[in-house]
Amino acid sequence: MKITMIGSGYVGLVSGVCFAEFGHDVICMDKDEAKIAALKNGQIPIFEPGLAELVAANVKAGRLSFTTDITSAVAQSEVVFIGVGTPSRRGDGHADLSYVYAAARDIAAAVEGFTVVVTKSTVPVGTGDEVERIIREANPDADVAVVSNPEFLREGAAIDDFMRPDRVVIGIEDERARQVMSEVYRPLSLNAAPLMFTKRRTSELIKYAANAFLAMKITFINEIADLSEAVGANVQEVARGIGLDNRIGTKFLNAGPGYGGSCFPKDTLALVKTAQDFESPVRLIETTVAINDDRKRAMARKVIKALGGDARGKTVAVLGLTFKPETDDMRDSPAITIVQALQDAGAIVRGFDPEGMDNARKIMPDITYCEDAYDAATGADVAVIVTEWNEFRALNLGRLKTLLTQPLLVDLRNIYRKDEVSRHGFTYYCIGRPN
Ligand code: NAD
Ligand code: UGA
Repeated sequence: MKITMIGSGYVGLVSGVCFAEFGHDVICMDKDEAKIAALKNGQIPIFEPGLAELVAANVKAGRLSFTTDITSAVAQSEVVFIGVGTPSRRGDGHADLSYVYAAARDIAAAVEGFTVVVTKSTVPVGTGDEVERIIREANPDADVAVVSNPEFLREGAAIDDFMRPDRVVIGIEDERARQVMSEVYRPLSLNAAPLMFTKRRTSELIKYAANAFLAMKITFINEIADLSEAVGANVQEVARGIGLDNRIGTKFLNAGPGYGGSCFPKDTLALVKTAQDFESPVRLIETTVAINDDRKRAMARKVIKALGGDARGKTVAVLGLTFKPETDDMRDSPAITIVQALQDAGAIVRGFDPEGMDNARKIMPDITYCEDAYDAATGADVAVIVTEWNEFRALNLGRLKTLLTQPLLVDLRNIYRKDEVSRHGFTYYCIGRPN
């Protein structure tokens, strides 16, 4: 099939290249000229494991190309995906749909012949209706079926998630789209990934409900971690003990500094706003949002407590800045709030991240960026693990100790055990565990 992907960011580029890998003919379009120029030059604008190789192979095979010219791309495509950003709207927390609607207007002007227009961006219930209305109003002759097909991939594991999804959700209002979408995803259905067809509004809600549920699950275990600390229990064993019940499941029960990233924070907030608009509040999610916001500042307080209650003039080495490992994405990373709170308390921050430093510099220009974990620890009064990058899992603790002014480690991801760090003379603080 001939496919255009509008928006070539984390989701658009990964989805586009994976569709090309299926054998489809894909044009990845973006309005960002620098991004498209880089892609045409073989440079991948984001860090995502395996992406560069897959892009190169599909470009070479002639199945994947890049353009800023939406008109020609849309005119020659049977399926047009919208994969643009839907960030929080400034001021009210609703999803900002201006990029989606701009794409819809561009599609309306360019579309030729029957075309399936698919919203892959995460969009509130009713957005598909509005996309359809925009296209029909701008071009009454357009023959389109507007579909919702939310994406469930995770950054850092994006290609694997896309290629081996638990399910593919497709919301349709026009039966003609069923066959086209089945054809688009045929290679996955052969691999037994269920294609679940629903109405469009249901599909839109499934995406938000999934993200909100996962955010709630993380927030639940974070609160149980605090309780574990208070009562002297071990949250990792509690997580395993409940997770082995198949009804609960072991995944997404790692306690930490609070969820971050480009999706959970904005999507939980957008769901809260939609629910309020429809006078059907989602109070569990409202509470989840509030608890998660508080948690990041609580993590800074934990560090300050480890420093003896006063961070003024103290130097903190922050290891890991991105919201999770294996990505360079800094959007809504817990590190941003933690660093800000430490600075507000008078601390000096030295930071290191294996992939996120370029993006971090744009958001936090006033910390010292270091070469590696050891450079960050040099002269610092405490080392704080904020993101569980593999290279922080096997630090040379003897070396780290000699570089710090005192052997103090705060591990917000529970990647060490107290006995192993204590052997090196460290005072060790972690999340919800006595050891
Ligand atoms: P992103 O910011 O990385 O990429 C969006 C791209 O769209 C940018 O390159 C931007 O230049 C481009 N763009 C914006 N308006 C455009 C227009 N009118 N025409 C052409 N290009 C345009 O965003 P992302 O992380 O890829 O997220 C995209 C959507 O997918 C969001 O709705 C997000 O919630 C959803 N999503 C993201 C993930 C993830 O892991 N990042 C996972 C699932 C779903
Ligand atoms: C998340 C979802 O997992 C994807 O299914 C979804 O497609 C995506 O959002 C989206 O809609 O964009 P992502 O944000 O890439 O994916 O990363 P996750 O692995 O879900 O992690 C999100 C945050 O939760 C991170 O800050 C991570 O550290 C935290 N987390 C995750 C925990 O604190 N504990 C866990 O057990 C799992």
